[in-house]
Amino acid sequence: KMSKIVVIGSCSTDMFFYTSVLPNPGQTIHGKQFSLDFGGKGANQCIAAQKLGADTVFIGCVGTDIFGKDIINNFEKWGVDTQFITKKSVDTGVAQINVTDNGENCIIIVAGANGTLQKEDVDKAHDLLLNETSVVLFQFETPLETTEFILNMLSSANSKCCKIVNGAPAYSNSYQNILKLADIFCVNESEAEIYTNCITKIDSIESANEVLSLLLNQGCKIVIITLGSLGAVFASKDEPKPQWVKVPKIENPIDTSGAGDAFLGSLAYFIVHTPNLSLYEQIKRACLIATKTVQFKGTQKSYPLKTDLPKELFN
Ligand code: RIB
Ligand code: NA
Repeated sequence: KMSKIVVIGSCSTDMFFYTSVLPNPGQTIHGKQFSLDFGGKGANQCIAAQKLGADTVFIGCVGTDIFGKDIINNFEKWGVDTQFITKKSVDTGVAQINVTDNGENCIIIVAGANGTLQKEDVDKAHDLLLNETSVVLFQFETPLETTEFILNMLSSANSKCCKIVNGAPAYSNSYQNILKLADIFCVNESEAEIYTNCITKIDSIESANEVLSLLLNQGCKIVIITLGSLGAVFASKDEPKPQWVKVPKIENPIDTSGAGDAFLGSLAYFIVHTPNLSLYEQIKRACLIATKTVQFKGTQKSYPLKTDLPKELFN
């Protein structure tokens, strides 16, 4: 039956450096704490959904190094189906994440194996995608040609599954075909600016709504822009009037890294498991979960289990 969430994307080893300030070029500074963790936007989104109780499958690539082994073990520990993860004789993807005292982060990623995800690797899951999947999630940390190929394949097969594309990290030239093929295109405010050639700076709900309309005009069916502590705005081709989803403000965020991924994984969960709720309500609940994660260090390990959350969220 069609109930699986399939993530086609990246998995990486995250190296967190917690520091008071960021170093200037040429400068060496002492950081405060180090932590090695499981990350990559795709893996994060998958684990976020799985921790809520979804039935997830991860399709992606790891290297033949120890990092790759650990990533597969981590997926299996949480119960994610790993049969479509391909091992490539390159390094596993890594991310260096600097988190400052005010909870802000800046990240350098080296794609490694993530950069080698080919359509053949994904096509092994062809039957699963066409017959058992209700939501498929993509990000932009794996080759966009592969994403476009799979989106095309799903469209031409008239697949009913909901295709969510998270355009992160942002590319400076927009990928029109991908935007048109996606059912939901989701980005954060800075990514949204880049996809609309930085015509409008997002510094208010009004400006976010302007950018939202620009993105809709690029052919997207539904666009969501996440706005951090301001929640999210969204609009669709059918209902182009922007809607704002507010969230309670978190006074002292500890670590916002991976909050966007928690949002996307949760949104996929609610689309599958509470299909009768409005999109507004599904986004609202996903925002609430994302907001929770910024109060804890790290990405996946800060994501809540279903049992950590109020029951009303799941009605
Ligand atoms: O979105 C957060 C993720 O971005 C991190 O886990 C890191 O791997 C980077 O890809
Ligand atoms: Na966090």
